[in-house]
Formats: sequence, structure tokens, C-alpha cells
Amino acid sequence: MAAPVSVLQEVDSLRAQLNRHNTLYHTLDAPAIPDADYDALLARLVALETQYALDTNGSPSQRVGAKALAGFAQVVHELPMLSLDKVFDREDLLAFEARLKKRLESDVTIGFSCEPKVDGVAVSLLYEAGLLVRAATRGDGVMGEDITHNVKTIRCIPLRLMGDNVPATLEVRGEIYLGKRGFAELNEQARRSQSKVFVNPRNTAAGTLRQLDPQRAASVPLQMFCYSVGLHTEGTLPETLGEVFESLANWGLPTNPQRETVIGIEACVAYCQRLLAKRDALEYEIDGAVIKVDSLPLQEKLGTNARTPRWAMAYKFPPEERSTRLLGVEFQVGRTGTITPVARLEPVFVGGVTVSNTTLHNMDEVARLGVRIGDQVVVRRAGDVIPKIVSVVSEAENSAPQEIVAPRKCPVCGSAVEKDGEVLLRCSGVLVCAAQRKESIKHFASRNALDIEGLGERLVDQLVEAKLINDVSELFSLEASQLLSLERMGVKSAENLIAAIDRARETTLPKFLFALGIREVGEATAQGLASHFGTLDLLQSATVDELVLVPDVGPIVAEHIASFMGNAANIALMDRLVAHGVRWPTIETGGAVNKPLAGQSVVLTGTLESLGRNEAKARLIALGAKVAGSVSKNTSLVYAGANAGSKLAKAEELGIDVADEAALIALLEELEAAR
Ligand code: IVH
Repeated sequence: MAAPVSVLQEVDSLRAQLNRHNTLYHTLDAPAIPDADYDALLARLVALETQYALDTNGSPSQRVGAKALAGFAQVVHELPMLSLDKVFDREDLLAFEARLKKRLESDVTIGFSCEPKVDGVAVSLLYEAGLLVRAATRGDGVMGEDITHNVKTIRCIPLRLMGDNVPATLEVRGEIYLGKRGFAELNEQARRSQSKVFVNPRNTAAGTLRQLDPQRAASVPLQMFCYSVGLHTEGTLPETLGEVFESLANWGLPTNPQRETVIGIEACVAYCQRLLAKRDALEYEIDGAVIKVDSLPLQEKLGTNARTPRWAMAYKFPPEERSTRLLGVEFQVGRTGTITPVARLEPVFVGGVTVSNTTLHNMDEVARLGVRIGDQVVVRRAGDVIPKIVSVVSEAENSAPQEIVAPRKCPVCGSAVEKDGEVLLRCSGVLVCAAQRKESIKHFASRNALDIEGLGERLVDQLVEAKLINDVSELFSLEASQLLSLERMGVKSAENLIAAIDRARETTLPKFLFALGIREVGEATAQGLASHFGTLDLLQSATVDELVLVPDVGPIVAEHIASFMGNAANIALMDRLVAHGVRWPTIETGGAVNKPLAGQSVVLTGTLESLGRNEAKARLIALGAKVAGSVSKNTSLVYAGANAGSKLAKAEELGIDVADEAALIALLEELEAAR
């Protein structure tokens, strides 16, 4: 059947895409899409080429690997380094066995070597008289690159073979890989030095092997598992792969301890299942198992196709990375107020589950990924690990890119969003935010706060879920009869709880301040604030500059306090608490002797040249004065420094006493000396 134009166009486009991804992957070690995406493109191309019997000459469907990178000596593989056909389930494996039996014209049970398919770089090591003389990449299977200088830095690869019966010429093939720990450490270093992080262990290993500088290669902890013998002196190999592996190990070459020889294809299926279950626990990444006919004479008999042996199969595990589109970002408020960007994704099957949303952690991560809404992103999910976006597909089109912008208001309660450290966002509406309701009530009732006996975590959950209370102030209007609807709540316990709530009305200012749950205001800070300001009113009107004068209060904590106290919903809540009878004894911040300026409201204006505004303020407050920001009829006195302006004029207008800085200094010194 002649192919319609639309098919020919699709085939052209698929070939162009695959050629580009081949170069990115094999030659530049910088793949743009996950393997599973690449496999899907290739499968579609092969299907179309087959269905319409298209000419495949020069098509990427016929290629094994990639061209060698300029800058390395080229190595010709006398025995080509082949690739593997893939299977995905038990049925495929049974069909594989059936094909083997058919070709062998025999129904005997076949022995198999089952091996992990380590996700690394295929290499060839050549030993002459037991000495490592050359190491090469697979390249396109026929011609690879000489990477001896880098391979010699890999500790587990012997430079000289040991043991008996080492063939005069021995070419060993295997997979060089970077373990999970090594990869994580390398990326940790990269992050610390703000250099580019690596996408995955395999590309890091490939990039390392193709370094021109072996010293840099040596700094990456590469490892290797050997899995076959290529060239070798005639008559030196045993009869089975199992024995070949034994010999390799005896000569000091690294082999995979997870390898097993099994009999029959069902045992291979069981091996694959066992290996899949162990996948996450292994120290290196695997993307499947390799099932090989164990007997070398049988392998010989079965022979090879154009690019794959007939006696082996790769059993592929579900992909751990797939690409999909980022549809949007939602900001979620956690129970402690942390605001997290959550990615909404076009559903994608990855790591064995369908993923449709995942956390983006914080805005730093968003910036690091450079991700925007509408981008094609790579999602990774390994085992039970939470799926995450690992990169943006750089070449994908995004017709309407939308930047991800951090919210300024909490999406749940509308309170201001504040920064918590460098990267985290937090809702400032601790007591009024529905997302933080339960936590704030639990804290409010806890022992070192208002100490409401019997109001534990479970009861708070129940009260909130039954909508009996929405915030801490509503605790004080609860009635025993309302509590009876709760599970396991009898009349006696209900009455006890109401009595405990009633007792809790009588508290202290430090406990009350601690109970509010202001960020980073622990008991000691609450105590400090209470003794410094004495009243809730004064604390509520304190500025950041005034707050930092309290022992142990730095600029960040001061910001938290000011932002809390400046939130209208918080103020209304504190008012409600007081209206419900929450009270505390007056704090003696010194009495008449130590607070000679108590009751006076002072305004500072102009430049106080020798004192400075902050110091003047602190010393006046310490003496009991209230330092106000503007002049009113309640102002007791105005101290005017140099260049005083409108406040001075206002004082004169209202007939309020005005003094200069020298008078202020004299007053402070006299009163402080008398304390
Ligand atoms: S045997 C003729 N054994 O998988 C068979 N390959 O798609 C050639 N691989 O290029 C390979 N672990 O990079 C074989 N135990 C293993 C393997 C393995 C990983 C890789 C290797 C190869 C690719 C084949």
C-alpha cells in the first residue's frame, strides 16, 4: 500500500527528531528527552516503516549508536558491539523462548543467564598478556572512541589481571556506571559551587568517560560490571556464560553479584520480578534485566540479526522518567503555614503509577528548573519516591509560556505572605488561616501556653471537624451541651472541659503571647516582650525598630512580630479573646521609681545628632514613656533635633512644650542616674 502524504510527513518528522536526539544522547551526552519518550518515537517510526514497507536505508531505525566524538582516537570493534531487543512482560518472554526452541528445532529446557541491565555506558576493555592496553566506548557498535586514559582511573578495573589461565588476548565488555550515592554527592558539590547539576547518573558517567582530562575523570567515582567476552585467544573460554562470569571474577574483574543462572523461561520471569522488587534498594540504577542463553555453543548456533543477538533479550522495567506538560501551578498552604507550589500535570504513567500533580518544593526550585506553565517537563518517579520534575525539555515548544509567580496573599485566608528564610513562603495568618486552624488551636491550648487541661490533639481535631470552633476565641463560647455530639464525650468530660477552658482565661501576658504562635516567638522571647512592653497595647503598636531593642529579638523575629501585630484579622482575634475574658495581671515594668516617665507621650522629630533616633526612643521607653509617631493633643512633650519640620509646627500650633536634644540628653542622664 502506498503511504499517504501525511504518513510520509510524519515519518520525515520522526526521523529528523530521532537523528537529533541521537546526536544529543550519544555524541553530546546531553539528552533532551527521557529514554521512554525516545523509545516511543522509535517504535512509531518502525511501525510506520513496516506498515507501509518504506525504504529504511539510512533511517535512524537502523542505527545502533552514534558517531565518535572528534578529539578521541577511534577504535574499530573487530567483533561488533551489539544492542539488545526489548521485551516488556511475561508473554513477550514466553514468545522469546518459543522462538529459541523453534530455531534450535528442539524442545529441551534452556538455561539462561539473568543479569541486571545496569544503566550506564557500554565499554570494551582489551587485555594483552594480562595488561589493560586499551579501553573504548561502544560508539556506533563498530567504531568507538579510545578512552583508555579515563578508564585507567577507575579503581575497580584491574590494570593487570590475576589468577590462572588468563588468555593472551582478552576483550572484556561491560557497563561503566556511576552509583546513586556518587551521583548525589557530585550534584551536591555542583549545587554548592553553583555550577550546573547533572541530569542523571548515566549521562554523568558518559560525560566523564569522554573528558579529555583524566584528572577530572578521576574525581568521579565510576564503577563497572563486566558482562561478556569479545575478542579472545582461541580455545580459552568455557562452555557457559555462568562459567565465563566465574573466570572473569577469578581474574579480578568486577561482576554483578545479582547475576543468576536459571533453568527455563518461567524462572527468568521470576528473576525479573525479584529484581524489580529490589530495584530501589540497589546502589546503582537499572532499567531492566538482560536474559541470555547460558550455553555459548547454543548462542553460536542461534547467531545474530543485523544489530541484535537472537540469544538475548532486554526485559525492560517501567520507565522512571517520562515527559509531560505542566498545566498549572497551585499554591498549597500546609498546616504550619508553609506555602508550597504544586505542579498540575497532564497525567503521565511513570514509575508504575499515573502522576497528575507533584510538589515543586519552593520558588528556588522553580527558578533552578527555569520552568514555566505550558512547558514540557521531565517527571521522574523511582519506586515509592514522590514523583518530581527533574528538568524542562529544552527544545519543546511552548506557545503561551506563563511565568510562575509567588502569591503575595495566602490563597486560603488572604493574609500577607512572608518569607521564611531564603526560599520558603509562609502565611502570616497563623490564627486566622483555615489551613493552620488545628495546629494553632493545639498550640494555644498546650501546657506552656494557655494550658487548657484535657484539650489534646484529638479533641481539637474533632472540634474543628465538627465545625464547633473556627479559631481559638471560639473556645471560650463553647457550651457543654455542644460537646456531647462528639464521639466518646460524656456529660462529665464535657463539663470538665468547659471548666478547664474557663480556668484558662486567667493567664499571664508571656503565656498569652507565646500562645499566639507568632513565628519564632518561643517562651523566652514572649517573656522578654512582656517585660519590655508591659502591655499588649504597647506591643501591638511597636515598630520593628522598637522591637529589636528587646533582648533576643533580632530583625527577623521583629519582622514576624510586627507583621503579626499589623494583621487586622489577628488584631480582631486578640480583641475577641480579651472580650471573652482572657486576662492577665498587670506587669510591673518598674513602678513609679523605675518608670518616672510612665504616662507621658513623647514625640521625637528632626535629627538627633548625638543620640540618634533609635537610642533616644529606647531610653525613653525604658523610663516608661510612650514614644508616639505624631503630635496630638495627648502629646506631653516634643523633642526637636536639627531640621525639624511639620511636627514642630504642629506642636507650636497646639501649644505643646518643645525642647531640644541637649535637654533630652540631660533629662535621660538625670533620670537614669536616679534609678
Ligand atoms: S549484553 C550482545 N548485558 O544494554 C549483548 N548489556 O541494549 C550486548 N547493558 O549496550 C549487551 N547491562 O550498554 C548486556 N548485563 C548486561 C547489560 C547490558 C547493561 C546495556 C549495554 C548494551 C545495552 C543493550
